[in-house]
Amino acid sequence: MKSCTIFAVQADGAELLTVEGLAAGAELHPLQEGFVEHHGLQCGFCTPGIITTAHALLSEEPNADAGRVREVLSGNLCRCTGYI
Ligand code: FES
Repeated sequence: MKSCTIFAVQADGAELLTVEGLAAGAELHPLQEGFVEHHGLQCGFCTPGIITTAHALLSEEPNADAGRVREVLSGNLCRCTGYI
């Protein structure tokens, strides 16, 4: 769920997972490690959305191919530089 599309009160009682919640203390989630290793980090606005979207996809479709990943991540827009 994109946080900008719902009111906070609508999430009352829901379980929320943020990008910070992916890490286990100081140990980053493998997706976060991958972004660091492969220089995938962008800014603090889009990177959390990209990582949490990728996490949600891979939780439901662990064998998603590159085309599916591109399709799902297509909703994550870079508003500053136009990164694809
Ligand atoms: Fe994050 Fe452009 S680099 S919105």
